[in-house]
Amino acid sequence: MQNLRITSTASYHPSLKITNQQLSTIMNTSDEWIKTRTGIHQRYISNNENTSDLAVNVGNQLLTNANLTATELDLIIIATMSPDAYTPSTAAIVQGRLGAKNAIAFDISAACTGFIYAMNTAELMLKNSYWQNAMVIGAEVLSKLIDWKDRSTAVLFGDGAGGVLLQKTATTTPLILGRDLHTFGDLGDKIIAGRTSLKAGFPKQLTSLSPFMMAGRDVYRFATHEVPRSIASAVQQANLKIDDIDYFLLHQANERIITQIAKRLAQPITKFPMNISEYGNTAAASEPILLTQAITQGLVKPGNIIAMSGFGGGLSTGTIILNY
Ligand code: ACO
Repeated sequence: MQNLRITSTASYHPSLKITNQQLSTIMNTSDEWIKTRTGIHQRYISNNENTSDLAVNVGNQLLTNANLTATELDLIIIATMSPDAYTPSTAAIVQGRLGAKNAIAFDISAACTGFIYAMNTAELMLKNSYWQNAMVIGAEVLSKLIDWKDRSTAVLFGDGAGGVLLQKTATTTPLILGRDLHTFGDLGDKIIAGRTSLKAGFPKQLTSLSPFMMAGRDVYRFATHEVPRSIASAVQQANLKIDDIDYFLLHQANERIITQIAKRLAQPITKFPMNISEYGNTAAASEPILLTQAITQGLVKPGNIIAMSGFGGGLSTGTIILNY
């Protein structure tokens, strides 16, 4: 029997490292405030690489790791809220640059939940088709959407990319054991980035984009209530108990949010690997970067049951229970 497996993971970040201390020289903030409120110590900021550049790097690593050629790919999904352009999609650019001419490619826009939505989409599309190989990447250059004078958002975000290769293999157990996805469109105004300015009349002026804006406290409350609920629901759907989960890989938005979620789930914090101190919040890239790190460091091993959970713009939440 054929089931999907993650056969390769990879991540990439730009080389320019910006510390909290450096930020405090260009805005009214401090290393102390950022560390204690968020857990962030530094972030990587792209100098001249766009979102597709980061994703192509990850894509090439994924192919090399799995010894696969680009033409064997059937599907490429990129989760991003910071695409290169409205069109072509970042996934189409990546498809072209990888030479994956047999793959269909499209983006998913669900902010920090994007990677979870993309994993679900890829899994369902592969399961119900003759396709064998999919690449799912979360890639962000959020630094191009940030108002670098707004300390309430500028200190939070970073750039990076991570991804997985999903392949049909001869295994009896499914890859995704349970899932829980939700969209809260009535709360959409809580996180906005890149809103277009629609001018009345004709001919119109070319639109400009609004920078990142977030109602931080509201999103904090949303995350600490909705993410534990989402995880509990996905665990139940998988017919498991919360204690059966080996690791919880959560969207890296704020160390305090993760600690609070661990408490609400009555799980030890050691089951919640974190890298927010190094990366900041990389939106859709955060979960695949964390997964790659956890595997590389030997923390997550084959046979582990892991809960991956994202939350953010939309607003949205998503959890998948993975049989790694
Ligand atoms: N440096 C110094 N002071 C600051 C900074 C800063 N960078 N930013 C805000 N402050 C000040 C505020 O002005 C305020 O001052 P005041 O009390 O004099 O008015 C004070 O610090 C407290 O501000 P709050 O916004 O209330 O701080 P809070 O403790 O809520 O932390 C934070 C803010 C980190 C944004 C938190 O609310 C949070 O993490 N929210 C969730 C964000 C999130 O999870 N986003 C995920 C989705 S992102 C996506 O989808 C792409």
